[in-house]
Amino acid sequence: MTNKEILKRLYKIIVPYQQKLLIAMLAMIAVGGFTGAQSYLVKDLLDKIFMEKNIFFLKILPLVVVVIFFLKGVAYYIYTVLLEQVGQSIIRDFRLQIFNHIHKQSLSFFNKMPTGTLMSRIISDVTLLQQAVSNALVGSVRDFFQVIILLGVVFFMNWRLALISFIVLPIAAYPIVKFGRLFRKLSTSTQEEVANVSNILHETITGNRIVKAFSREEYEGNRFYQQVSKLFVLTLKDAKFRCMQHPLMEFIGGGAIAVIIWFGGNEVIRGSATPGTFFAFLVALIAAYEPVKGITRINSTIQQGLAAATRVFAILDIEPEIEDKKGALTLAPFTSVIEFKNLSFRYNDEAAVLSNINISVPAGEALAIVGPSGGGKTTFTNLIPRFLDLKEGSITIDGSDIRDVTIASLRGQIAMVTQQTILFNDTVRSNIAYGDQQASDQEIRNAAQAAYALEFILALPNGFDTVIGEGGARLSGGERQRLSIARAILKNAPILILDEATSALDTESEREVQNALENLMKNRTTFVIAHRLSTIKNATRIIVIKDGAIVEQGTHDSLIAQKGEYEQLYNMQYT
Ligand SMILES: Nc1ncnc2c1ncn2[C@@H]1O[C@H](COP(=O)(O)OP(=O)(O)O)[C@@H](O)[C@H]1O
Ligand SMILES: [Mg+2]
Repeated sequence: MTNKEILKRLYKIIVPYQQKLLIAMLAMIAVGGFTGAQSYLVKDLLDKIFMEKNIFFLKILPLVVVVIFFLKGVAYYIYTVLLEQVGQSIIRDFRLQIFNHIHKQSLSFFNKMPTGTLMSRIISDVTLLQQAVSNALVGSVRDFFQVIILLGVVFFMNWRLALISFIVLPIAAYPIVKFGRLFRKLSTSTQEEVANVSNILHETITGNRIVKAFSREEYEGNRFYQQVSKLFVLTLKDAKFRCMQHPLMEFIGGGAIAVIIWFGGNEVIRGSATPGTFFAFLVALIAAYEPVKGITRINSTIQQGLAAATRVFAILDIEPEIEDKKGALTLAPFTSVIEFKNLSFRYNDEAAVLSNINISVPAGEALAIVGPSGGGKTTFTNLIPRFLDLKEGSITIDGSDIRDVTIASLRGQIAMVTQQTILFNDTVRSNIAYGDQQASDQEIRNAAQAAYALEFILALPNGFDTVIGEGGARLSGGERQRLSIARAILKNAPILILDEATSALDTESEREVQNALENLMKNRTTFVIAHRLSTIKNATRIIVIKDGAIVEQGTHDSLIAQKGEYEQLYNMQYT
């Protein structure tokens, strides 16, 4: 992305705040004007009061000073507050935009993007970007006006001396450009390392039980140390240049003052300038140099911001792989049949994980899917709610291709319970009502009861209002699973997908979960990937998926009689 493209996109972001920015800018110009006026006061102070001993000026000048400083303060307050408002609005808008954008992405996006990286994009990159937009870009406008106004003042006072200051500008500009490139490069590497730090944090904090179980605290501590050290080195490098910047610019400024004392002193001694003019000139020039020095700082902020913007836009530019197509229809409530025709799927450009699947599942069927691990069972069920899009063939529900209907209406008809329960750090009630926030207390209670969860919920300290911790940390595996079943029951969707919902449980809790699942499966069309014989025996039909293909299908008894793949699996697992 070129700078121009980035700036164009950043400009679009500030368009809604144009009015505020305009007022801010006017206030900035006022500040610049008052700063210019200040240097004129010096001239009168010296020439009228010190030299001429003019009593009238002595009475007036202090009053003028107070008024000018007051007005400058008011203008300063107005523009800084407005800038802060706009800046914070940009941060809010951007965070929301990225958040919504990443939640539109398919599963494969999350396979590629580590959590910590995404979090650092939303949290720190957006902040860097905002600083570039509201502080730096706008700050440079302020500085520009200030320099123009002050240079005007300087020229008006003594144009020969003013010309000298033009020698300073190109000399000062050189390090500004040099530093800018450096800062941008450093900032890019720094943010990459910040993202890596968040990735390690996220992994080790959410995985702290495994870290403990394998006694890997020291190893993880070391890994974190390495990562933080990388960041440390980069940050110090950045700081070194940043710290060099200021004295360097001061030195250049000092050199300029030396030159001006020489020439200006000459003028005063020869009598072609008053001491007042000389000092006023010096004050104005120093005031004009202040923003020029500031440009180096602003420049580094802008460079950092542009680098951050590149990363943020890179995420925003990832088109969701799975989207509603234009004119997508609403899927009518499922009534008769789900058909899979010549279906094939591969991840990225890898070998096909599923090939040429053909099956027709009538409403009300409980289809058990069994087969060796890695055969493609989970992939197969992820295709139905379009978590992944199939590459060849089609899936139709009552004759409508799932790619022709809206994702919301499709997923609205599917409930899922997976081996890995996903619960939120919220109350039991909110977790059960996750798919239907309007649900009444009675409905939530009924769902909990049908999921065999009511008893343990009522035993919790605050019943349905108990907050269950991150991922349901304060519940047992079986309890978590029954909560996610209650959630699915409440959703009351006609199509149900169970992916090894009981395989992580011990026999005791499995029995309860099993009962809960039977309640859930009533009157629904179910795809159930199961390890347990009980679930499979209740199925109306069993398919065996191996190496991405359906190798056998039938009822339990007919498959046993075939003495094929299923019989082998059955003998291995259940006898
Ligand atoms: N996100 C992914 N990216 C690439 N390959 C994957 C991904 N998820 C699963 N696979 C591969 O697809 C195959 C089928 O996996 P899966 O559907 O999970 O099998 P099962 O559920 O039957 O155990 C496996 O070979 C697995 O390595
Ligand atoms: Mg699986």
